[in-house]
Amino acid sequence: MSLAQSRVLVTGGAGFIPSHVVDLLVAQGAKVVVLDDMSAGKTENLVGVKDDIEFVVGSVADAELVDRLVKGCHLVFNFAANADVPRSVKFPEVDFATNAVGAFNVYTSCRRHGVARIMQASTAAVYGEPEYTPMDERHRLRPISPYGSSKLAAEAMGLAWHHTYALPFTAIRIFNTYGPRQPRYVIYDLFRKIQANSQRLEVLGTGEQIRDYCYVADTAAAFVNLALNPTAVGDVYNIAGGSPVSIKQLVAMILDTLGLTDTEVYYTGQSWPGDINRLVAGLDKIRGTGFAPTVDLTEGLKRFAAWIE
Ligand SMILES: NC(=O)c1ccc[n+]([C@@H]2O[C@H](COP(=O)([O-])OP(=O)(O)OC[C@H]3O[C@@H](n4cnc5c(N)ncnc54)[C@H](O)[C@@H]3O)[C@@H](O)[C@H]2O)c1
Repeated sequence: MSLAQSRVLVTGGAGFIPSHVVDLLVAQGAKVVVLDDMSAGKTENLVGVKDDIEFVVGSVADAELVDRLVKGCHLVFNFAANADVPRSVKFPEVDFATNAVGAFNVYTSCRRHGVARIMQASTAAVYGEPEYTPMDERHRLRPISPYGSSKLAAEAMGLAWHHTYALPFTAIRIFNTYGPRQPRYVIYDLFRKIQANSQRLEVLGTGEQIRDYCYVADTAAAFVNLALNPTAVGDVYNIAGGSPVSIKQLVAMILDTLGLTDTEVYYTGQSWPGDINRLVAGLDKIRGTGFAPTVDLTEGLKRFAAWIE
């Protein structure tokens, strides 16, 4: 399948990661329709493509609207979700309605209208506490948050529908992604705190937690790449940066990026409930498709700094 002239629906397309997917699709000549309820999306994320896309404000919970938009599409990327874990703890009903029921609506319409491929944004949160690292796709799935459980419901449903109805479904489990347009999480928080006070930086936890950060352009490219790869149908893949670092290393790299040498860094020692100590992805499977991340953390942090300033 070629993207040129293909009609593609991106749900949640005004959000952080999905807006980068929209950019890639438009650049490759696709006719993109974005569906976003703007609960977290931002119009400025789509400013560069606003004249090239159709933008619909609405929810994936609205089955009729979803069906109208899916009709005639070759490809669907389902990113619409509450992607905020603490919010999922507070409002599990909203989380389930969007992440699980919304996915049900999208898959139902994809099946009805014979969409050639549906790409589902899944998450490392489907694994829960790591039993070993790096975590490959065979790691046990035991989510520990409402968010992780609702995303696992969506992923499991898609795989089961592939088995039952031959739905051309692929899921990608995203580990920590960062980059321009990011609205939350550790790299964003650290930059914001340093902007507010570059003399003293308070960091939650011990600094020992390990994460595997992926630059957003690489995460977006993984989605587009696998959408065009027929061998990825009916399967699930991890995506991460492939160079795990501790929070202490990350803080040092950020200070270095900003040229700060005198910042006093203070670790609270206390993490938040559910914080996972070591979150590292096994990437052999996605590398086996020929795809590999291209932007390392040093370069990605430079680009992030340029954006946030
Ligand atoms: N950022 C990460 O590191 C990360 C990690 C794992 C998985 N993910 C997944 O990637 C996807 C994108 O996440 P993000 O970090 O870019 O978050 P984001 O909040 O920026 O993007 C999600 C978008 O979905 C929209 N949305 C929410 N509810 C909706 C609804 N009912 N109908 C239509 N649109 C709705 C929001 O307005 C937002 O624009 C999500 O599915 C998330 O679960 C992200």
